[in-house]
Amino acid sequence: MSDVVRTDLPEAEDTRALGASLAAVLRAGDLVILTGDLGAGKTTLTQGLGEALGVRGQVASPTFIVAREHPPLPRPDGTTGPALVHVDAYRLGDLGELDALDLDSSLDESVTVVEWGRGLAEALTEDRLEIDLERPRGGEVALDHPDAGVRRVTLRGVGDRWAAVDLARIVAGQAARGEP
Ligand SMILES: Nc1ncnc2c1ncn2[C@@H]1O[C@H](COP(=O)(O)OP(=O)(O)O)[C@@H](O)[C@H]1O
Ligand SMILES: [Mg+2]
Repeated sequence: MSDVVRTDLPEAEDTRALGASLAAVLRAGDLVILTGDLGAGKTTLTQGLGEALGVRGQVASPTFIVAREHPPLPRPDGTTGPALVHVDAYRLGDLGELDALDLDSSLDESVTVVEWGRGLAEALTEDRLEIDLERPRGGEVALDHPDAGVRRVTLRGVGDRWAAVDLARIVAGQAARGEP
């Protein structure tokens, strides 16, 4: 299985859809590390994920707080999925602080998404899904819409958890809930 998958996300809606697609695969205990400059689309992706996971509350930039917890809502079929813990590692001094946050839902009951986490969150677990978002340089920038434009995303699974996961299917939006 290819361990690195890349694709282009032309619109914010595509970034959101990738987050939704991830919801089918992510489960309690998983860690996702989102790396990218300000405005790259990290929160946008997390919004798509939160909606598709079916968690309580609006996913927003975790500004002024280090982490926000979104408890799971019961699904129509009566089952309950994982909580979403959305972390802004930019505000974290180091990893110990994440442990010390004393979250209501423990990390192994939650999908944990860390924005800007590289170098901080990696020691959390050996298994992690790394997602990089970048705006390709040299593209045309519309001055009246500085945020607009294609994002290039790279997914990389690290550790046993991700060894059997077909990242290309996630990117293609074809992953089904319950797949490994
Ligand atoms: N292809 C795209 N993917 C993601 N966001 C996009 C895209 N095109 C435009 N945007 C806009 O760029 C902004 C990204 O902001 P945000 O997700 O908060 O970034 P970050 O969390 O990385 O700082 C949003 O306003 C979003 O609507
Ligand atoms: Mg953000």
